[in-house]
Amino acid sequence: MAGEFFAALPGDPLDSLRNRLTPPRAAEPAIVLGSGSPTLAPVAPPAEAPAGAGVPRSSAANPGVPEGYAAALPGVGAPSAPAASSPFYFLDQGNGYPAHADVAVPNQVVAQPFGFPGDAALRALLAEIDHRSPASAPAGNSGHFYFLDTAATRQQPAAAPHAASSPSIDVNLVRRDFPILQERVNGKQLVWFDNAATTHKPQSVIDRLAYFYAHENSNIHRAAHELAARATDAYEAARQKVTRFLGAASPDEIIFVRGATEAINLVAKSWGAANIGAGDEIIVSNLEHHANIVPWQQLAAEKGAKIRVIPVDDTGQIQLDEYRKLLGSRTRLVAITQVSNALGTITPVNEIVALAHSVGAKVLVDGAQAVSHLRVNVQAMDADFYVFSGHKVFGPTGIGVVYGKKAILDQMPPWQGGGNMIADVTFERTVYHGAPARFEAGTGNIADAVGLGAAIDYVEQLGMENIAAYEHALLEYATHGLRAIPGLRLIGTAHHKASVASFVLQGYKTEEVGHALNNEGIAVRSGHHCAQPILRRFGVEATVRPSLAFYNTCEEIDRMVAVVRRLARR
Ligand code: ALA
Repeated sequence: MAGEFFAALPGDPLDSLRNRLTPPRAAEPAIVLGSGSPTLAPVAPPAEAPAGAGVPRSSAANPGVPEGYAAALPGVGAPSAPAASSPFYFLDQGNGYPAHADVAVPNQVVAQPFGFPGDAALRALLAEIDHRSPASAPAGNSGHFYFLDTAATRQQPAAAPHAASSPSIDVNLVRRDFPILQERVNGKQLVWFDNAATTHKPQSVIDRLAYFYAHENSNIHRAAHELAARATDAYEAARQKVTRFLGAASPDEIIFVRGATEAINLVAKSWGAANIGAGDEIIVSNLEHHANIVPWQQLAAEKGAKIRVIPVDDTGQIQLDEYRKLLGSRTRLVAITQVSNALGTITPVNEIVALAHSVGAKVLVDGAQAVSHLRVNVQAMDADFYVFSGHKVFGPTGIGVVYGKKAILDQMPPWQGGGNMIADVTFERTVYHGAPARFEAGTGNIADAVGLGAAIDYVEQLGMENIAAYEHALLEYATHGLRAIPGLRLIGTAHHKASVASFVLQGYKTEEVGHALNNEGIAVRSGHHCAQPILRRFGVEATVRPSLAFYNTCEEIDRMVAVVRRLARR
């Protein structure tokens, strides 16, 4: 399989890959990016779009969702307004931005402090591009960009950089939205290749957080005063954005937590404790992050259940045949990652879910590394639980999400007790709210939930399909560059991959490579990536892990490859 992967890489020179990643210049821009940036033109949101969502880049109601694709998926439309029976007081806005505010709202207008020379000319240009962008947006592609099998590339030669297959991200514009990318490290411009650890935040997210604290800050779901209303509206609007982003059926299926780790722990401690017993089996894969191993081990130890592990092949892909053999009448849960943080493997989650359901098991999908790279639709996937962290998708740290099917959440006991999650308390008994409030005891991370909503607006404006296409080409380019270096071994070469190019270099400890890269201003993670079992499967304890995002460039990859090549020559 590894051979198949490499054989499938195109023989075209790196230059042609670079061409595919070189953004079309002003004459023929494919898409307008970053209207969330304060440096860009103010635009009124369309009436039907949530305020603050900016201008959709496609003609569909859902920004970034090609109409045909959206129509084929269940429940990707904008979620309906909260039901009148909502336990909350203040859901009159539904969009997270107060109609009553007489101050500028980030995402909707230019934030003045960030203007720059030439702003007026750029605005005029962007307005023109914006006008044209729907027609030039690529047709819907629901994931095949991530095949590192370039049969499609061979059919549509990379030598046509501005053809329909051309990535539709103007990386120069995108980069302006991320102020931290201007940082210098060791005298060099920062190259951020540690996106699997955390992603950087666009100005629109930074502005949204500042706006919240300047104009809306309050506790939520309590108190009959104006700021409580603003904060509650902003928080619940963020829940609706997550609902749309995941293709969930209802905001009641979206629980805010601290991150993916807490999300998995919530499911283990609530659903797991109620549904896993002695002799039951929990299946995980060899690819899992420790966060999707340890909570299940703890639960299994407590209950006398067993952990069973799906092996991977030499490329780092799940062995479905072996998985089938593990499934049985004792299987209660399959906990599987959608994208491996250490190798980048995209697993066949749809098949995994369907097979689990065929034996009556539930499935938790760890989407921490997937949501920033792929369009996710939990209903199409039929996941019972789906979890992710905000900071991996250009949102703040300390905020994450559990999606759970409503029928399952309704049966689950609370995992923490306190305020916000109760309907009524006496000293004799407590009546709990339904989901999601039942699982959100205490004061949550309100501002960062709102910030996550802004991050979702941002990636939806870019369009997940555009992001996937651009990153796919970038990963190809990095793979070509790295694999040509003598003594370098790529770890993880599956056909379906996202973002990650893990490697080891003969004669060097991974931290030495990481240090040499840092000296040149290039940030990668080196170590075990909280995924020791999968690294050991490949006979290593650590790798160097460049991980890419849509704001990275070929030039940055060239800089990294040059450093590693220099080390290899020594
Ligand atoms: N899970 C994060 C990573 O893969 C921290 O680096």
